[in-house]
Amino acid sequence: MGTYTDNLLKLIVMSDIHLLPKGEVARGLDTAPRFVTAIQSVNTLHNDADLCVFAGDITEKSDVAAYALFDEIRAGNDSPQRVMLGNHDDRNIYLENATNPMLDENNFVEGYDDIKGHRILMLDSSEPGKLRGGLCEQRLSWTAERLAEAKALGLKIILLLHHNPCALQMPVDTYRLAAPEELLKVLHDSGADIIQIVAGHCHITTAGSWGGYPCATISGNQHSVEPFLRGRTGQQDCYAAPAQYAVIMSDGVNCAVHFQSYVNESALMNPDLFPGKADQKFEVID
Ligand SMILES: [Fe+2]
Ligand SMILES: [Fe+2]
Repeated sequence: MGTYTDNLLKLIVMSDIHLLPKGEVARGLDTAPRFVTAIQSVNTLHNDADLCVFAGDITEKSDVAAYALFDEIRAGNDSPQRVMLGNHDDRNIYLENATNPMLDENNFVEGYDDIKGHRILMLDSSEPGKLRGGLCEQRLSWTAERLAEAKALGLKIILLLHHNPCALQMPVDTYRLAAPEELLKVLHDSGADIIQIVAGHCHITTAGSWGGYPCATISGNQHSVEPFLRGRTGQQDCYAAPAQYAVIMSDGVNCAVHFQSYVNESALMNPDLFPGKADQKFEVID
């Protein structure tokens, strides 16, 4: 490992894990063994990750037993970990049962980690009983303060939140982050170097931008949905695969967001068809 790779951030983001108490299954998809597979995938492919973030909708219906199962399964991974909440989570139930949760001074489940020249800023967009979630005045102020600090420190920002803030031109937009323009104003006003935003919630993989900031969404551990775009009518199709997490690698200039599928129904092709893919070299940037 050279200097370059030593300074290259590797951040894992998983979302929409939707666990139920052991043995319970929703819509024919058992999310627990899928989450076990996700953890095994990180262990096998990304045991060098700097941080693994679980970006909300940890449980399907906030059962204490489901949070316990979450802790049991994620204990199989040694990376530093952070837990965020989504609309399917109940902050009080989570906090009553959590060991070492992220917590800001107002008791929201949010925080940050400064790693390799980046600030990973993780917001709590959950609001009890509200599908759209939201960020109150306290959370917006907290975000503004953390962005100002990061700017002063010269850190690149990777912003994580459960609810997708960007419109995807899909019906899910009716329950994306509430009042997204308020967060966008905080980001713009900060002048901080925000290089990537990643959200879950919408159960679909997308890339694009929001107010000028690169913004990606990830499908998660539960069902994924087809792009059901404005103008379509009828039933939107849902799929049991892929289940996937994001792998973000950033050197501060190049920030790549990969989507690693751990439940994948694509057929593996014969490697002999791709002799050029054997023993490939990576670019040397040192
Ligand atoms: Fe979800
Ligand atoms: Fe959600």
